[in-house]
This record gives sequence, structure tokens and C-alpha cells, in this order.
Amino acid sequence: MMPAALTTGSAAKVARGKAPGGSGCPYLVVRDPESVREVLHRPADFSPANALVAVTPLEGPALRVLQRVGFALPPVLASNGTGTHGGIRKVVAGFFTPATVAAMEPRIRELAREAAAKTAGQLARSGHADLVQTVAAFPPAVIMFELLGLPVRDLPDLKRWGLDSMELFWGWPDGDRQLELARSAAEFYVWLRRLVAESVAAPGRNLFKSLAEHGLSRTEMCSLGYFLLIAGQETTTQLISTTLFRLLEGAAPVGWTEAASEAAARSVVRHVLATESSVPTWRRVAAHSTDLGGDRIPAGTEILLELSGNQITAAAGPGSPSPQAQAGGGYSTGLIFGSGIHRCLGAKLAELEAGVIVQEAAAALPGIQLRDHEPDWIRLLSFQAPRSASVANGPG
Ligand code: HEM
Repeated sequence: MMPAALTTGSAAKVARGKAPGGSGCPYLVVRDPESVREVLHRPADFSPANALVAVTPLEGPALRVLQRVGFALPPVLASNGTGTHGGIRKVVAGFFTPATVAAMEPRIRELAREAAAKTAGQLARSGHADLVQTVAAFPPAVIMFELLGLPVRDLPDLKRWGLDSMELFWGWPDGDRQLELARSAAEFYVWLRRLVAESVAAPGRNLFKSLAEHGLSRTEMCSLGYFLLIAGQETTTQLISTTLFRLLEGAAPVGWTEAASEAAARSVVRHVLATESSVPTWRRVAAHSTDLGGDRIPAGTEILLELSGNQITAAAGPGSPSPQAQAGGGYSTGLIFGSGIHRCLGAKLAELEAGVIVQEAAAALPGIQLRDHEPDWIRLLSFQAPRSASVANGPG
């Protein structure tokens, strides 16, 4: 029998291994915020071990491409359900303390102004620009490298690798596409291994040196770097992309002109986080047979937690949309960055970056209009955003 939670709208099932709506081994989708919080706060019962497992099982040819470069993602941080997690998390958190992040604001603003000015120049020259590329894509990556004490380089490659790896692990690629994506992931991994080797021998403080001093092996450092170098910037790019798009579309609570104020920009970012965050779901797996809200959850049950509005869990069936969304008040913003011992280490940074970058773009580009109201969207199990926000100078 289905657990009661499944029939009350707090949880529902969604297909696995295929795009939503297809058949296959289902995730248990948990939608009720109280239950989501409970799952996140019971890591011994609901393990993060499946956080980085490919949604679509990888086929032989793709696996061989990865194996050839020694690609491995042993659990270190996001997917680490063991006692080593706390110590490793502390080392990484040392690079994103509230004081360090706050001190970065002038630098974020400088990069945001440069990007907005470059966009204005491009608009003057060619009449159009894609704000995802010119405004949202690069500042978060520069800031992440600077905070981690790593060289700022190969940014276009990093952006491509990040998107490809997200699709490889959180998407539904067929065999041919898997092969393409695996080649990209292998290229990223080789680049990362070189960066790790170089960084541990470099002067000064940097992430990999600190992790080596903590006792992590090269493979563990590559695993952590693979996750962090994507999570630490592409998710923020995607949040900014959705915010810019909704503002220009006229679908945000404030208009484009108003977003030039700091308070309005911050509040519209909060709104997008609550209604359609760039990371709208996250996974856990039942470590053993256990209970949730009085329902039996068998060992090994794969769980998809709904953190914000999205098309995946909305399509999941009974009870959609969740009571919070129906009430029009959005989702509980307290869960957007997760909760408990794995809560996002970049929450403050991501919100600060998104607010400043949106504000500076709205201030520098007052007359722009959206050219394409129906862009292609990134729609993966746990990531979403428009791929472009194409604009032109408005009349007058
Ligand atoms: C809009 C941007 C972002 C969103 C929506 C987001 C969301 C999330 C979510 C939902 C989790 C899982 C939390 C859990 O399991 O309880 C997470 C984990 C994590 N995030 Fe973020 N994130 C964002 C940006 C960032 C940035 C900029 C960084 C880098 C500083 C970052 C670093 C991490 C790390 C290291 C973890 C794993 C923490 C652990 O397992 O202990 N994230 N994030």
C-alpha cells in the first residue's frame, strides 16, 4: 500500500531513468516542507549517498571514457554520509565565512558593473545581447576562484564542462549524448587533476592545499573539486538567469526599472529562489528501513526532496502543486539551500552575487526589452534556468 503521505500531497512518485512522465524505477517525492526538513535532519536514516549518482545509468562506452582518465567521485562532501564529513566541511567552510563573503561585495559589484557596461557596448554595436552570457555567466566563476585562492582561468571551458556534467549526472541523455557528455566530463577531470597538483605545491593559501593538509587524497580532492567548481558558480549563474528573464518578461513582483534599487533586486532574487530556484530538488536515500510521518520507508528508497517550484515534481502527480505554492506565498525559503549538516555552504554568497549582479544590470541597461519570450530551458532533475535571455534596446 502507498504510504499515507503519498495521498496527502506531501509526497508523490516520479519516474526515474526517463524524462518525467515516463515509466521506470520511481523516486519517492517528498513535497511537504515539514517532511523535507525532517528528512534533511535525519542523515543517519536518510543518507546523502545518492546526491551525485547519475539519474540515467551510464552505458558502457560513456563509462569507458570516464574510466580511461581515472574519473572517480568518492564521497567527500555533498554525498558523504560518514563521520569524515564534518571535518572536511569545516575546511571548505573556512573559504566562505560570512566575513569573507561580505568583504567580497565591492569586488562582486566591480565585476557586475564591468559585465553590464560590456553588455551596453555590445547592444550599441550590434543591437542585441544575451544576458545569460554577458551578465550571468562569468562573475560568479571569477569570485569562486578568487575566494578559493585558485587561478582564474579557462572560464569558457569551465562553463561548458559544468553544464555538460549537470546533464550527464542529472539529465536523461541517450547513449550518443552520454558519450559526448562523458568526453567533456573526462576533459574537466583531467584539467582538475592538473589544477589540484599545481595548487598543493603553490605558495599561499588555497582550497586544495588546505584539503591536502587535512589528509585528503588526490582522488578525494578531485571529487570535491568536481562538485564545488560546478556548484559554486553555475547554480548562481542559473539563479541570475531566471531572475533577469522573469524581470524582463514582466513576470516578477517588481519591474526592470525598479530592480535597479538594491532592496528590489534582493527581494526579486528571494522571490525566484522561493518559486523556481536553480536547485529546486535534492536527493537522499533511505539508509535502512525507517519511518517518515508514520509511513514505512523501505531501505534503499530513493527520495527526491522538493525545495522550490519546478516542472519535475509538479508533474509528479497527486497533490501538485504543493499547498505552499497554491497559497501563492511561494515555498518555505528556509529549505531552498537545504538544511542540517549538509546545508549549502554558498547560500550567502549566492544571494549576494545574484542581488548585486541583477541590480547593476538593471541600473546600466534601463531601456532594454526581451527579444525571445520562449527561450530553451535547462530542465534537469535538480537544476533549471533559461539558457538565454536575449535582449535589444527598446524604442527611444
Ligand atoms: C543559487 C545558488 C545555489 C543554490 C540554490 C544551492 C543549493 C544547494 C543545495 C540545495 C544543497 C544541498 C543541501 C543539503 O543537502 O542539505 C547545496 C549544497 C552545497 N552547496 Fe550550494 N547552492 C548554491 C550555490 C552554492 C555556491 C555559490 C557554493 C559555493 C560556495 C555552494 C556550495 C555548496 C556545498 C559545498 C554544498 C554541500 C555541503 C555539504 O554537503 O556539507 N553552493 N547547495
